[in-house]
Amino acid sequence: MASTHDASTSKTQIVSPARGFRGSLMLPGDKSISHRYAMLAGFAEGTSRIANFSTGADPHSSLACMEAMGAKVSTEGSVLSVTGTGGALAQPKGDLDCGNSGSTMRMLAGLVAAQEGNFRFVGDESLTVRPMERIRKPLELMGAQIELTEGHAPITVRGTELKAIHFEVPIASAQVKTAVLFAGLQAKGVTSIAEKIRTRDHSEHALRAFGATLTRHDDRLSIEGGQKLRAIDMTVPGDMSSAAFFLCGALLFEDSNLVLDSLGMNPTRASLLDVITGMGGKIKVLNVEEIHGEMVGTIQVQRSAQLRGMDISGALAAQLIDELPVIAAIAPYTENGVKIRDAKELRVKESDRIALVVKNLRAMGAEVVEYEDGMDIPGGQTLRGGIVDSGLDHRITMAFSIAALRAQGETEIHGAEAAAVSFPEFYTWLDELAIR
Ligand code: S3P
Repeated sequence: MASTHDASTSKTQIVSPARGFRGSLMLPGDKSISHRYAMLAGFAEGTSRIANFSTGADPHSSLACMEAMGAKVSTEGSVLSVTGTGGALAQPKGDLDCGNSGSTMRMLAGLVAAQEGNFRFVGDESLTVRPMERIRKPLELMGAQIELTEGHAPITVRGTELKAIHFEVPIASAQVKTAVLFAGLQAKGVTSIAEKIRTRDHSEHALRAFGATLTRHDDRLSIEGGQKLRAIDMTVPGDMSSAAFFLCGALLFEDSNLVLDSLGMNPTRASLLDVITGMGGKIKVLNVEEIHGEMVGTIQVQRSAQLRGMDISGALAAQLIDELPVIAAIAPYTENGVKIRDAKELRVKESDRIALVVKNLRAMGAEVVEYEDGMDIPGGQTLRGGIVDSGLDHRITMAFSIAALRAQGETEIHGAEAAAVSFPEFYTWLDELAIR
């Protein structure tokens, strides 16, 4: 059984090996979609009702920031009710605390850039060292007044009139694209955005759901400024990136059987399902429907073949960026290993995820070669329970808890409380799914 005890401020989670992995569940709302619904509901005119909002701390940082800027938030049972500001955000009384959430800071910087007032964004230790130039550049081209602290947070945005731009996003980043879209919604003229690698498109779907018109010509997305948003009722689909941990858990055992209900299956997030199939999983889609532009369905996952490794690079690496830690963590158990390249962005996530994955794999006795933009993890290895350092990064915590299911002996995950950033229920459900 997993158990938790406090060691000063950091929690250590003990994860013991399992014999199988079975069960059925509905995941909490997608983190990325919850951020966007919180922001746009807080910006729109009227009261939106949001069911299955993410239970993670990050989207709640976005909600709290919207409240600090005049949105009214309450809960009716499990449904969140957000009364928006009708497109006129209030000057917050203090700093806007984004906690651990890069999405909150980057996307809100775009939303406030054309609003009246001064907005100062701060974050925790991890967020304070993450790169913010990537949003300053396009927003300044639009005329925004934005000040960083040596390229990082704290960020101060002084609201001003914006003009439309034609922008090519230089790195694969949905957060940067969203900051420009949210600013473009309020700029003079038509803003257009092109991406070399197509990133998650939840902002496009959410903006349309709230009544905005966006057009796409070839690879260019356009939004006209001055459009008003209206409140809607919505349900957030289950989080594919949280599902990734359990999907990889299911791959580790021959007779596993996992059913995930109401799962978000947006094609820009679903490459993971192809990877799971490629690694030896069998996925049955039991139903699928579209809600506010988002695909939502029920899937059943079993293991049908030996656990195989794969090479992940290029656009696939960008699309799987949040899932790479868990794929890497189970890589030693594959027949032929996993090679990851073109994933340098992993170094500037909530932690340096390349360095931490390598360190923790080695702590569990694995051989791994580190590269600036990825790693090579040979297959056919046995892991032993060890001491894992989460770096207070939610995805590292959960990735190595999955690796621990097939290790020899118990694994101690230090800083396991980080899971709550996106998936507070993780350890409870892991205990239910893992057969011991
Ligand atoms: C996110 C985009 C990705 C991802 C993050 C959530 C989003 O970040 O890693 O967890 O919701 O738009 P980047 O935009 O930095 O690639």
